[in-house]
Amino acid sequence: MRIRILGSSAGGGFPQWNCNCANCRAVRAGAPGFSARTQSALAVSADGENWLLLNASPDLRQQIAATPQLAPPIGAGARASPIKAVALTNGDVDHVAGLLTLREAQPFSVYASRRVLDALAANRIFDILAPNLVARIELPLGAPLRIEGAGVDLGVAVEAFPAPGKVALYLEDAGAADFGTQAGDTLGLRIVETATGDAFFYIPGCARIDQALAERLKGAALVFFDGTLWHENEMIEQGLMGKTGSRMGHVNIGGPDGSIASFANLEVARKIFVHINNSNPVLDASSKQRAAANAAGWEIGWDGMEVAL
Ligand code: MLT
Ligand code: MN
Ligand code: ZN
Repeated sequence: MRIRILGSSAGGGFPQWNCNCANCRAVRAGAPGFSARTQSALAVSADGENWLLLNASPDLRQQIAATPQLAPPIGAGARASPIKAVALTNGDVDHVAGLLTLREAQPFSVYASRRVLDALAANRIFDILAPNLVARIELPLGAPLRIEGAGVDLGVAVEAFPAPGKVALYLEDAGAADFGTQAGDTLGLRIVETATGDAFFYIPGCARIDQALAERLKGAALVFFDGTLWHENEMIEQGLMGKTGSRMGHVNIGGPDGSIASFANLEVARKIFVHINNSNPVLDASSKQRAAANAAGWEIGWDGMEVAL
């Protein structure tokens, strides 16, 4: 199985269009140790020809242009794409807006939870993906589903499971408990190559690492995990936004309940942070936080990074 990080940043990207934080200023200036990043998505393929996207970011057009494997194959006909399916982990703007880039009457399949399919159905702009060409298929929770699109079996199955998290920002209900969050609002995905059984996890949004999640991840070969913030208060301290990491539905990397500490005994062979917010000090290759993450066995995902499994 081949996996490519299309975008390693959280919503907003790096640099973010309106952000003057130290990291965004540094990457704009081309400072050493800083690399620009697009918004959150992966691509995966069992055969190297047909691809499943994991999330569709607002930067998808740019990501496809930067990825030769996702270009229309030479000789494949006037209109063609290796992208046969998209699986969504939630309904956040940074994970669904790229579906609009995939208009132009191309057949493929969209896989998501019932909650996210309902959010798409309620937004008529997504009807630009004509139902007779673009199938919308519910991902069951806790059972693997073989992925197909445009008449092609992709040779991978996706097992979706509820991840601790929060309903999409634009769907928050201020008057409801937990902002109206329900099961299926945030998914983790286990992607399995059907021919070999090789599997990895993709969890770009996760509010906490509870016992159930820890047990699920124990001994995994590869995990791409939510690296949004280093510290609960970093956006507040940098004067960017008055929200903590927990309020946004993201576990922090550092601290006693953070992902580095929580993964310490999980024996995950390869751990890669994705969905990294522009405020996060790990984006500075010379920071002590980058050194600490690397020392704990974590890699910091980057756009174009390829992993074979
Ligand atoms: C998040 O990851 O918290 C969301 O992408 C926030 C947003 O939709 O802007
Ligand atoms: Mn996000
Ligand atoms: Zn910034």
